[in-house]
Amino acid sequence: MKKIMIIDGGPRKNMNTAAMIGKFAEGASQAGAEVKVVRLYDLNYKGCISCLACKIKGRASNVCKFKDALTPILEEIAQADGLVLGSPIYFGDVTGQMRTFLERFAFPWLSYNDYSMTAPKKMPVVLIETMNGLPERNNSQGYGSMEYCIASALGQPEHLIAYNTYQVRKYDNFELAGFSEEAKRQWRDEHWEQDLQKAFDMGKHMAETIMS
Ligand SMILES: Cc1cc2nc3c(=O)[nH]c(=O)nc-3n(C[C@H](O)[C@H](O)[C@H](O)COP(=O)(O)O)c2cc1C
Repeated sequence: MKKIMIIDGGPRKNMNTAAMIGKFAEGASQAGAEVKVVRLYDLNYKGCISCLACKIKGRASNVCKFKDALTPILEEIAQADGLVLGSPIYFGDVTGQMRTFLERFAFPWLSYNDYSMTAPKKMPVVLIETMNGLPERNNSQGYGSMEYCIASALGQPEHLIAYNTYQVRKYDNFELAGFSEEAKRQWRDEHWEQDLQKAFDMGKHMAETIMS
């Protein structure tokens, strides 16, 4: 059976990023793929510690050699057929947890002999972002420089973005006067179902692609 690994880089189990990931997983499962969702906030791991074990002469590896809770996940991704990374946007970037994961994921791909990027296996990749920003006004750098690494090593990723998300369920309960709940509600009514449907469709499409 073909397998899709989904890496959830958001802290909240029941909010926007998790909902988009859930719909992607639903679409992919319905189309017949095995799907595994990994929540980075549930794992105890570090970023790259610069041990350079992945670049030891004669024993170079394109999967990180440092052992912690991320090790089995990195090994599982190396064997997978499709990959999804999901993150809310924090201060214009993916979360620290996602960035930390990406250091461990991507550094072993990079050859310091010829600067090529080689992953164990090419595979389709979807990058999910959710944010307060609007399509025409947002501060997101997305996956930033890591997108180049992913594109070189795994293949050009596709994007799935949910804008202007509901950050809390009830705006009245928080000091969030900079946002109009009315405007948020209107946006949600017009876009959120479509965002979820797009996530479902992209999940289905990825599963169909890797199975064909
Ligand atoms: C610490 C923090 C920083 C944020 N920074 C940004 C930002 O720079 N740009 C933006 O558009 N939204 C920002 N947001 C809003 C979140 O990206 C948005 O609410 C997202 O959909 C939350 O995802 P979640 O519901 O899965 O937790 C920030 C939220 C938090 C908690």
